[in-house]
Amino acid sequence: MSILVTGGTGFIGSHTVVQMLQAGMDVVIADNFSNSKPCVLDRIEQITGKRPAFELCDLCDKDALEQVFKKHPGITGSIHFAGLKAVGESVRMPVEYYRNNLNSTMNLITLSEKYNAKRIVFSSSATVYGKPKSVPIREDFERSCTNPYGETKLIIEYLLEDVVRADPEWSAVVLRYFNPIGAHPSGLIGEDPKGIPNNLLPYVSKVANGKLPYVHVFGNDYATHDGTGVRDYIHVVDLADAHLHAVRYAESRKGIDFINLGTGTGYSVLDIIDAYSRVSGKKIPYQIEARRPGDIDECYACPDKALKVLGWKARFNLDDMCRDSDNWQSKNPDGYPEK
Ligand code: UFG
Repeated sequence: MSILVTGGTGFIGSHTVVQMLQAGMDVVIADNFSNSKPCVLDRIEQITGKRPAFELCDLCDKDALEQVFKKHPGITGSIHFAGLKAVGESVRMPVEYYRNNLNSTMNLITLSEKYNAKRIVFSSSATVYGKPKSVPIREDFERSCTNPYGETKLIIEYLLEDVVRADPEWSAVVLRYFNPIGAHPSGLIGEDPKGIPNNLLPYVSKVANGKLPYVHVFGNDYATHDGTGVRDYIHVVDLADAHLHAVRYAESRKGIDFINLGTGTGYSVLDIIDAYSRVSGKKIPYQIEARRPGDIDECYACPDKALKVLGWKARFNLDDMCRDSDNWQSKNPDGYPEK
């Protein structure tokens, strides 16, 4: 029995694979390194003492993906991380986002049916809540999206609902991530965005470590305690742990569930800059600038369903997240090496 982990060398995927291997689970990674590097596999092996099975595969290539299922007949289900995920890029390249994220998922579902691996844990996002009517956000809130990336997540949620409705043998767990940050405490794996980071934490890390001059704070006139945007930051190790619970849950029942993965606590941009600076002892210059189009004031989870259904809740606090992000950034100032 093994689990196919698509996008298993990416940020959240690699942390999840580490925990799966440590828990004695059999893992087959399928990845095309579109936003990751081969040396992640070495790092996973360094941490766990085990090298996961790996298949270089673009999920949009159905024949290639079918070869993965044929080569690994023990696959009983999947965790589907693979996908393009940059909001701004998705606005500039909508067709590529719809093409990649939807085709890959349809191929995975089709082949999972053919090879009787009808269990899936899917990486959705808090982005499917659009501009929520209130916080904390519960899973039964209305869904809407403001960009093509978010639309692909929402369409895949609808698709999985229809798949489960059509075939009650399916088991799907849709995980809605809030803002994953941090890194493995070893400093061997972490987030390695291409070029200038879009997200706050990698940007703050680079400023703290002298790679960028200052943080651009996008707006200080939001309806929050200090005017800057509030988000629910969650340690990637906590997030990874939730996937192990989700895999076991998917094995234990059939049907579909949507589950928030957050801590339930919101922090502002300035809270993050303060905490990171205090924990790391490093200066983080910043400048207040105009709002970033599409951003919302406040977004944090009601995490109760995750505890009730999965028996999981986040354990790490903001200081842990900042410490581990800084440990990763200082040990890997230019991210992963090419080779
Ligand atoms: N921010 C800055 N400066 C930066 C980057 C971000 O001030 O350089 C602010 C944003 O305005 C926002 C907060 O920091 O208030 C967090 O921004 P991120 O870009 O880190 O994260 P978002 O909440 O915008 O988006 C993230 C993921 C999306 C996902 C969403 C789900 O990037 O993929 O969370 O809520 F959909």
